[in-house]
Amino acid sequence: MGVLQNQSNRPQLKNQLKAIRGAFLDFVDDPFYVPEAESVRYLPDGLLVLENGKIKAFGPYEELQAEYGDIPITIYADRLIMPGFIDTHIHYPQTGIIAAYGEQLLEWLNQYIFPTEGKFKDKDYARAVAEIFLDQLLRNGTTTALVFATVFPQSVDAFFEAAERRNLCMIAGKVMMDRNAPKAVCDTAESSYQETKALIQKWHKKGRLRYAVTPRFAITSTDEQLQKAGDLLREFPDVYLHTHISENLKEVAWVKELFPNCSGYLDAYDQAGLVKERSVFAHGVHLSDAEFQRLSEAKSAIAFCPTSNLFLGSGLFNIEQAKSSEYPVKVGLGTDVGAGTSFSLLQTANEAYKVAQLRQQKLSPFEALFLATLGGAKALCLEDSLGSFDVGKEADFIVLNLRSTPLMAFRNSAGVPTSLGELSDRVFSLIMMGDDRAIEAVHILGELAYEQTATG
Ligand code: GUN
Ligand code: ZN
Repeated sequence: MGVLQNQSNRPQLKNQLKAIRGAFLDFVDDPFYVPEAESVRYLPDGLLVLENGKIKAFGPYEELQAEYGDIPITIYADRLIMPGFIDTHIHYPQTGIIAAYGEQLLEWLNQYIFPTEGKFKDKDYARAVAEIFLDQLLRNGTTTALVFATVFPQSVDAFFEAAERRNLCMIAGKVMMDRNAPKAVCDTAESSYQETKALIQKWHKKGRLRYAVTPRFAITSTDEQLQKAGDLLREFPDVYLHTHISENLKEVAWVKELFPNCSGYLDAYDQAGLVKERSVFAHGVHLSDAEFQRLSEAKSAIAFCPTSNLFLGSGLFNIEQAKSSEYPVKVGLGTDVGAGTSFSLLQTANEAYKVAQLRQQKLSPFEALFLATLGGAKALCLEDSLGSFDVGKEADFIVLNLRSTPLMAFRNSAGVPTSLGELSDRVFSLIMMGDDRAIEAVHILGELAYEQTATG
C-alpha cells in the first residue's frame, strides 16, 4: 500500500533498480581496427543502472540523474570500473601445480601435469580445487572463463556445480584423450563420446553455464577420437570446441608425423570438422600464414597466452598477424594456468605487451584491455551478453584501484583522469604493475561477489 506499491499490489519496478556511480571504462568497438576516440568509452562520472542483474541504463551521471537520482546508488570514488575480465583459456585442475620448474611442453605434461590431473578421479578433491580456483578467478577480476577440466566426468560436475552456486558464466568441458598419455588419464574414442554427450545434456545452457567439447590436443587424440568430437559438434551445434594448437615446435613436428595425410596442424582438426565459429584454439604460436587465413575464414578464435608461452619457452605469438585487416582472427587473452604463471589478466596483458615488443610490435593499453574484456567476449561468442556496459547485457563488472600499491600511488596522482591520453597512461601503468591487489570489488549479475579486505 501507499507510495511503495502500485495498483497491482506489486512493488513498483523502480524499487528493484539500483545503480553504481563512478568512472567507467569499456569498449564499443575494436581498437585494433577503429581509432581509440571511437572505440574507447570513458565516462569520468558515469551511472550504471541495474535491474535484475542486467544493465538497464548507462551514461553520464548528469544525464541520468533526473530519471534515476532517487534509486539506491553505490559510489566508487577515485576508482575505475570495467566489465569483468574474460579468460579464454585456463585449466582449473592445474591450479595446484602452477610454477613447476624446468621443462618445456611435452616433458612438463609428462612430469607434472598428467600425474596431477590423475587426482581428479576423486570428486571431493576436484570440488576442493574448483573452489580455490574460482576464488582465484574472482580476486583477480575474472568473471568468465573457458576452462579445461580433466578426463574424469566427475571433475566437470565438480566444476560446474561450484560455478553454478556462484552464478558465474563459465564454459568448460571434459578432456578427451585416448593416446600418448598414461592409461590412468586416458579414455577411449567411444567412452569420450558417450561421456561428453551426457555432460552436454546435463550442463550446456544450464543457467549461465556452457559446454566445450575438449580434445586435449592432436597428439593425445586418435583421428577416431577427433572424428567423434566432430560428431558431437554436429549433434549439438551451439556447444564450443576448445583445444590447443601449435604451441611448441616439437609438438608441431610430432603432429605432422601422427597425421601424415594432413597439410598441417590445423588441418588435423579441420578434417574432423572442428574448425568453426565457437572453436577456441589456445596458443597458435607457430601457425602458418595459411592457418591464420583459415582461422579467419572459419571465424574461430585464438587464446593468446603470453605468460605460459614464456614460461614453457614456447615462443612469441604474432598478435599483429592475428589482428591483420586482411585476415582478422578473433583473439582473447588466456592465462593458461598452470603453464601460465598468474591468474591475473593484468599480468597477462603485461606479458602480452612484452611479447609484442620482442617482435617489434606495439600492443597499446587500450588494445590490451579490449582483449581482456570485449575482445574475450567476442572470442567466446558472448558479446551479446557480456564484455561491455551496453544496455541489456549482464552486469558482471569489477572495481579497480589504480593506486593499489605504494609505487602505483606514487606513479599515479589521485583523482580520475579527465582525458583519454591521461587515462591511457594510467591504465598502462595498471597493466604493468597491477595484479590482484588492484581488484577492489567484483560484482556478478549486479551482486557483490568479492571485496578486497585489509588482510587480502
Ligand atoms: N597442450 C596439451 N595439453 C596442454 C596443457 O595442459 N597445457 C598447455 N599449456 N599446453 C598443452
Ligand atoms: Zn592450456
